Amino acid sequence: MHKPIQDAQCFTPSQDVEHESMYQPCIDVDILMKNLCQNSYITAALLTAFALSACSGEAEKSVQAPAKPMAAIPVSQQAPVEVSAEDKGKRIFARCRACHTLPEGGKNRVGPNLWNIIGRTAGSAEGYAYSKAMKTSEVVWSEEALSAYLEKPSAYMPKNKMAFAGLRKQADRDNLIAYLKANTESQ
Ligand code: HEC
Repeated sequence: MHKPIQDAQCFTPSQDVEHESMYQPCIDVDILMKNLCQNSYITAALLTAFALSACSGEAEKSVQAPAKPMAAIPVSQQAPVEVSAEDKGKRIFARCRACHTLPEGGKNRVGPNLWNIIGRTAGSAEGYAYSKAMKTSEVVWSEEALSAYLEKPSAYMPKNKMAFAGLRKQADRDNLIAYLKANTESQ
């Protein structure tokens, strides 16, 4: 079954009969050598194929390379869609709207109009009936004073008549004040 290799192709072919002995192992060792011999061809073919594919892979990579940095930016590194403090503040002002208008010349409701509130003297909106506490407070609504008042109105100014519990979060007050400033003349 194990046929000896007659032409011993695994050795350097030589027609020189004197070197006949060099062929002997190939013939003698039979199947082992045959396998080695065939494998070497297969190995060579595989190596060539591998080298070719590696080369073409390289080529593809270098063509694609310039596009990579753009395509590879993870979502987490992309600029987030920012909601400005002003926009956040506008949402918070929704809680004040029932009692206050903001535009210039806006009506007084349950509470006074708040046009230009930053820098305004407390209790000074025309045509509004303030509490005695507010009227006599002598507060000027700086950003700090406004923030302190809005945190807890009843604590900041006892006996003022604004029925509002307060904004406990500093960020909410900051955003609201940013919105008030942005919609006010004297910035
Ligand atoms: C339930 C109604 C009501 C709500 C809600 C309310 N306020 Fe008032 N606010 C008043 C009243 C009433 C006064 C007048 C207080 C006084 O005279 O003692 C007032 C007064 C004020 C003043 C002082 C105005 C001035 O002319 O000195 C500011 C500032 C103010 N409110 C801001 C706000 C803001 C900002 C919000 C929302 C976070 C808010 N208020 C929510 C009723 C309200």
